[in-house]
Amino acid sequence: MKKILVTGGLGFIGSHTVVELQNEGFEVVIIDDLSNSSVTVLDGIVSITGIKPEFIKLDLKDKPAVINFFNTHQNIAGVIHFAASKAVGESVENPLLYYENNITTLIYVLQALEKHKIPNFIFSSSCTVYGQADELPITENAPIKKAESPYGNTKQIGEEIIQDVCKISENLNAIALRYFNPVGAHPSTKIGELPIGTPQNLVPYITQTAIGLREQLSVFGDDYNTPDGTAIRDYIHVVDLAKAHVAALQRLIANHSGGSTYETFNIGTGTGSSVLEVIQSFEKVSGKKLNYKIVGKREGDITAAYAHTRKVNDILGWKAQLTLEDAMRDAWKWEQKIRS
Ligand code: UFG
Repeated sequence: MKKILVTGGLGFIGSHTVVELQNEGFEVVIIDDLSNSSVTVLDGIVSITGIKPEFIKLDLKDKPAVINFFNTHQNIAGVIHFAASKAVGESVENPLLYYENNITTLIYVLQALEKHKIPNFIFSSSCTVYGQADELPITENAPIKKAESPYGNTKQIGEEIIQDVCKISENLNAIALRYFNPVGAHPSTKIGELPIGTPQNLVPYITQTAIGLREQLSVFGDDYNTPDGTAIRDYIHVVDLAKAHVAALQRLIANHSGGSTYETFNIGTGTGSSVLEVIQSFEKVSGKKLNYKIVGKREGDITAAYAHTRKVNDILGWKAQLTLEDAMRDAWKWEQKIRS
């Protein structure tokens, strides 16, 4: 059984990926500093899969602790590196925190991969690297645009660092997965998103408004150049996204002919939905009317982004199976569960 290290494995995307890895027979070791997650997520993982992964509370900025972890955990076949800070606004307020949290930790992990000759690496990147792409849907060949935020910049720099390491490494296969907008929760309602404080993202804001935690959703802008005037994104169910990591890992493991490789894949559904369409979808599956109002645009927001998925469909053999309605239903079930 191959042992996979999942950093940030108790976070939103990390925890769903741990479930899918275990479902596919991988042994998982989780590192998480619990800065934006809870140790209770482990119970959710156990109740879905029946397997308790090894968990080590560790801050990846603590270099001696990282070195010690890899010295004492042999036979790691691959690393999926989720651990990172991800709030766009916070990164504008505190750029150094983001460069330290997201870049330093990546360097320490890559140093460990080199030292221990761990050949497989998956990096959580983002469609934010494309900025407002000139052509939709967005292919992996679309130019990388100047980052809108320090957070986005950490994803661009992260990809560049990995590419540079692959150039000199004898045997490192790396994949950067560029996520579009991850939403939803596990259909079992055992794990889901746990935003701290006021959510910045649309879907948790919708579900928290519907449950009565927030008074009203602000829709940021209705004068975009889109059919209904609201901005368009590609909302991908977190379980589909988690499965993309397993597909990427299987490709990396199968690929070992020697030498190094670096590849990027878009992880989205290929379909764009406007903010108003997301609200309609929520209202349909929940049977609730959402209290919302149109306000001005949010600074830094782009008009539209959705993925071209041919590369990931063809090469990873992965395709999103779940719909926006599935995601909204699962997000709503999860919100009701955690507030009950
Ligand atoms: N939106 C609202 N009201 C809200 C929150 C969001 O109208 O209260 C709108 C936004 O303006 C945007 C859409 O809903 O049009 C989606 O917003 P999110 O904040 O959920 O997602 P973003 O597309 O802005 O950001 C996400 C991730 C980032 C990542 C980015 C890449 O959260 O980490 O995608 O494009 F960088």
